[in-house]
Amino acid sequence: MKFFIDTADLTEIRSLASSGLLDGVTTNPSLIAKNGGVFAKVIAEICEIIPGPVSAEVAGTEYDQIMAEAKVLRKIADNVCIKVPLTMDGLRACKHLSNDGTMVNVTLCFSAAQALLAAKSGASFISPFVGRVDDIGWDGMQLISDIVDIYNNYDFKTEVLVASIRGPNHVIEAAKMGAHVATLPPAVLRSLFNHPLTDKGLATFLADWAKTGQSIV
Ligand code: G3P
Repeated sequence: MKFFIDTADLTEIRSLASSGLLDGVTTNPSLIAKNGGVFAKVIAEICEIIPGPVSAEVAGTEYDQIMAEAKVLRKIADNVCIKVPLTMDGLRACKHLSNDGTMVNVTLCFSAAQALLAAKSGASFISPFVGRVDDIGWDGMQLISDIVDIYNNYDFKTEVLVASIRGPNHVIEAAKMGAHVATLPPAVLRSLFNHPLTDKGLATFLADWAKTGQSIV
């Protein structure tokens, strides 16, 4: 499973990139607004830190505007992945961009039917929002399971990018289902490292090591 980080916070991206675990980055207009900075400049900096796909979302909703914005965004760096909304205009743009060899992430997916349309439009990634589906009392992970099954049935190349992740269980469940990518809020990525028995065991080992009076270097 690939790990993307879902943030536009350059400090967080630099810090977590040092783990060697990041395969890409996703941003959206809300994350850009939250962190400030000039959009194109922020994306360019992220692309320099992380060599994998970096999703930059268009703000246009109509085909011509989406295509005009995509043209600007994809010039920023080779690893920019154009993020488009799951609408008819967004998927039309997806089809044209994909045919031209541009990576496209189709966002705001809330149903398996939408995911099927995105795959048929040649998307590199489909982003189903599990947390927001859970928030309205539906089952976000069932949505992931359905999409993975459908894509496997037809050997679609589109990767299932699990988005709107709220905690470690979403990541583990998605990995069990074979989803290709999880985009993690920084706090969720950090939480994956933690286990109380690791902390307890390490404390014991360090205390016992101190009793030996030795040092390794
Ligand atoms: O980037 C899309 C997605 O991950 C947003 O998550 O927490 O705003 O539902 P959230």
